[in-house]
Amino acid sequence: MTSRNLAVEVDLAARIVRWQQAFGRNDLPWQNTRDPYRVWLSEIMLQQTQVATVLDYFPRFLARFPDVASLAAAPLDDVLGLWSGLGYYSRARNLHACALDVVRLHGGAFPQTAQLLQTLPGIGRSTAAAVASLCFGERVAILDGNVKRVLTRVLGFDADLSVAANERWLWDEASRVLPARDLQRAMPRYTQGVMDLGATVCTARKPACGACPVAELCVAFGQELPERYPVKTRKIKRSAQSIWLLWAQARDGSVWLDKRPTPGVWAGLYCLPLFDSREALEAAVTTRYRKHLEDVPAFTHVLTHKDLYLHPVKVQIPTGAKQDIDGAWMSPDEWLRLGLPAPVRKLLAEVARGSD
Ligand code: ADE
Repeated sequence: MTSRNLAVEVDLAARIVRWQQAFGRNDLPWQNTRDPYRVWLSEIMLQQTQVATVLDYFPRFLARFPDVASLAAAPLDDVLGLWSGLGYYSRARNLHACALDVVRLHGGAFPQTAQLLQTLPGIGRSTAAAVASLCFGERVAILDGNVKRVLTRVLGFDADLSVAANERWLWDEASRVLPARDLQRAMPRYTQGVMDLGATVCTARKPACGACPVAELCVAFGQELPERYPVKTRKIKRSAQSIWLLWAQARDGSVWLDKRPTPGVWAGLYCLPLFDSREALEAAVTTRYRKHLEDVPAFTHVLTHKDLYLHPVKVQIPTGAKQDIDGAWMSPDEWLRLGLPAPVRKLLAEVARGSD
């Protein structure tokens, strides 16, 4: 890695701060506030979700839960229901657990340092730093995927990030290049700026180096090899799983749903009963309805580490009929308000439209 002198690093932070003010994103609904509740909520939503999608969910969530106390007081099912469609539901469960901790352990006010914020459920090092720097001007570094790309390129950091020691080294570098002065003003801008730069200019493919405020300082730009960074040799291993879904439906449109156990796929969400094989599904259906099973075309649902091959099997059962498996009949009115996995929700939408 090329070593750089202090003057360059001071300039790096200052350039990003100035660029953010002029060209960064400054009118998103979770900006122009130092309310840690709003900033925390947006950061959790943005962890694995595009800004465009969060723009849709964030105001709805805030309207229902305007502050941390209302979120803590709500049943978890309501939180999961409102989260439905955003995916990665552990975020919603942690969100609720975090709100409860803020109320019970911190008197209803978010702690004001990254170190304390990190003790709360669902808040990792980077998210804690985002909240502390954006809301409280703390001099502390974030390091999400976008920021890793920006920093490895600018610094010419070519050590393999799949090695934990190298990742720690990059954290140290990220801390070293932070603004040094005027922190209350500079830190929120710098944090937002380095994220914005990664999202809009220093993109994974074909970065817009011509529009970059730090191109002159950038080692990767000097080498004309921006896409060489970040270096990460180990890829996540993906697996695949087939799942059979029992879609038991009554004439009135009610479906049989059960709450998924924790831990596991879709933990805590309401779902059609799931089985590892078609035989297991058949065995769970009362004998007299077994001959009416009807295979719905299978489809793939992609999770972070896993491809799910979903095989729905539908059966009409008279309203109110008792089943031998866990769960309950739920009318469209009921299940539309619950947290359901996105592919199951899509499948059932047919019922809600009354097309069956
Ligand atoms: N991604 C994560 N945090 C973000 C933020 N504050 N603004 C835009 N994108 C983000």
